[in-house]
Order: sequence, then C-alpha cells, then structure tokens
Amino acid sequence: MPAQRPYVLGIETSCDETAAAVVAADRTILASTLLSQTRLHATYGGVVPEIAARAHLDHVDGLIREALSSAGLRFDGIDAVAATVGPGLIGGLIVGAMTGKAIALATGMPFFAVNHLEGHALSARLSPGVAFPFLLLLVSGGHCQLLIVEALGRYHRLGGTIDDAAGEAFDKTAKLLGLGYPGGPALERCAERGDPDRFPLPLPLLGRPGCDFSFSGLKTAVRLLVERLGPAATDKDVADIAAAFQRVVARVLADRTVHALAMAASRGVRPSALVLAGGVAANREIRARLEGVAAAHGLPLAAPPLALCTDNASMIAWAGLEHLAAGHADRLDAPARPRWPLDQTAARR
Ligand code: KG4
Ligand code: ZN
Repeated sequence: MPAQRPYVLGIETSCDETAAAVVAADRTILASTLLSQTRLHATYGGVVPEIAARAHLDHVDGLIREALSSAGLRFDGIDAVAATVGPGLIGGLIVGAMTGKAIALATGMPFFAVNHLEGHALSARLSPGVAFPFLLLLVSGGHCQLLIVEALGRYHRLGGTIDDAAGEAFDKTAKLLGLGYPGGPALERCAERGDPDRFPLPLPLLGRPGCDFSFSGLKTAVRLLVERLGPAATDKDVADIAAAFQRVVARVLADRTVHALAMAASRGVRPSALVLAGGVAANREIRARLEGVAAAHGLPLAAPPLALCTDNASMIAWAGLEHLAAGHADRLDAPARPRWPLDQTAARR
C-alpha cells in the first residue's frame, strides 16, 4: 500500500549539511538525501560560513532531484515544500529558503518556513510518535536548551546555555586534544579507552537553581590540563581527559534535566516523555545518563534514531507536515532568520 498523502518535501541548509527528504503523513520517510560538508571544513577546525553557503548552492538542486527520484516522484506528486529558514548561517539559509520558495512558486504548492530547532523538537514525533506535552533536551553544535514542548507552535524555554553549546564544547575540547573534527564522535571514541576518574574537572552549575548550562569553564580547565601535560602527554592521558570531559558533560546534562522536570511539574505540566534531540544525543554515555533520569521520573526516554538526531531534512519535512495538518501556511516573503529563538516561533504567524 502506498504511504499516506500528503507528501512534503523538506530542505535543510542551515549549517554544514545539505539535505533533502520526502516524508508522508503516515511518518514514512519516502526518501532522504544528505551531503555532509565535514571534509570541506575539516582543515579549518570549524564551519566556514562562506564555504558552507557555496557548497549548499552547488548541491541542493541535485539532492532534491535525487530525493524525488528515489521516492519515485515528480513535483506533481508532492503536496507542500518546507525549508529551514532559521536559525543558522545566513548564506545557507538563503540558499535553502530561496530554493523552497522557487519550487512553491513554480508549482503552486504551499510553502513552510521552518525553524530548524522546531525540526529537532518535533523529530521525536516522526519516529516513535511522542504525544504533547513533552520535555525536550536539545543538545547540538549550536544549541543547548531545555524546553517544554506544549503543542505545535507552543514552546516554553526553561533554560539554556550561558556560553557554549554542548556540541560546541565537544568540538572545541576535541580540537584541544588533537582529536580532529567533528569533535563529538571523535571524542566519544577516544573516551572509550580512558579512565574518567583520573583527572578531576569542574562540574559547571551542577546543583544550582534553574536549568541553565555553562561549558566555557570546563573547556578552559581542559586547556589548562593540556598545557600542564605539554608535549609529553601520551595517548592514555588524552583518553583519560576525554573520558573525564564526557563524564562531566553527561552528569551536568542529567542534573539540569532533573531541575527542568521539577520546573515543569511546578508549572503543572505532566510531560509524556523526556525527549533528546540534536547531534549530541548520539552520545551513548549521555543517552545512558538521561535514560536513568527518565526512569527515575517514570518517563520514557525518546531519542530519535541517530540519523534523525543529527541535522537532516526528514525532520524539516515532518515539521512541514505538522503545520500542514494544522492548516498553517507561510508566505513566500518569509525572511531567512539567522537568529530565531524557538519560543518565538508561534509569533511568526
Ligand atoms: O544537530 P547537529 O548535527 O547540528 C547542529 O544543529 O549543531 O549537531 C552537531 C553537533 C556537533 O557539535 C557534534 O560534535 C555533536 O553534535 N555530536 C556529538 C556526537 N555526535 C555528534 N557530540 C558528542 N558525542 C557524539 N557521539
Ligand atoms: Zn541541528
């Protein structure tokens, strides 16, 4: 039986992944294509916005064509188009937004200007089908926040990072340790061989009221440690530091999530699940810690499969499907928004 219409084409170009996907109303991912720019940026140790924008421009059309052909569809078989228009790097956002709008204009189909963070937030409803309201820990390279997802378009931010995002801390620490880029997966691999108890590191904001995060002091502590060890540092030293760092981040994320659950309860919110999203959710130690937090609160932990945790276009198509079902649509003059807090998403309509 064919997947249930409507079908939405999603386009993602907000950072260093160019992606396109076609998703059906019954949650079937009919096609998903993705081109990572990791190699292009590796020599610089981080994403270079200008290089990213040019690469998106070079590849977005081909990825859309590939997604359509692997779904066995043409534009006349698609019901709407959804593109990430923020937050993110302006050049890439313009490429994705203009491509989506051009398709909508040429075909007459509705257009959705999707908030990338909303894509991550709703991705938990794409695969396991989590019900509103839920508590979301969004941990990626650019974002680190705890939110109550009350309903489509109703997001209440309980806390966030006051300096670096968790993924950024992973990336910068991995760079300090000479582990390469992107840092998160490299650091996790290295930490497997390490002893997390050998080097004591600070536990930023642990136990403090509220549920904000801070990672810059932790990064500085690692830098001082690396400087103290100097060029004599062995592979074992590096693995021990990586393991200690990962343990601290996992403990801090768990502690802040416990606080957020208490804050949600004090607002009278009974979440249906604890949802993990963003690239850092791929980390096994972090998942295990949060599994413990969820279990202690009698909640299921919903962490989307890895391919849906990191940046992808299926989550953008799914956000479009949710808005389509709610009867929304965006105008073709919806601007690209490099800064766009998720709790202001509802205000755009
Ligand atoms: O969600 P995402 O793909 O892009 C953003 O929107 O930022 O997240 C990418 C971030 C990077 O900082 C990367 O180092 C981190 O997620 N990451 C990880 C792991 N896999 C990816 N961090 C820790 N452990 C991992 N296994
Ligand atoms: Zn992301």
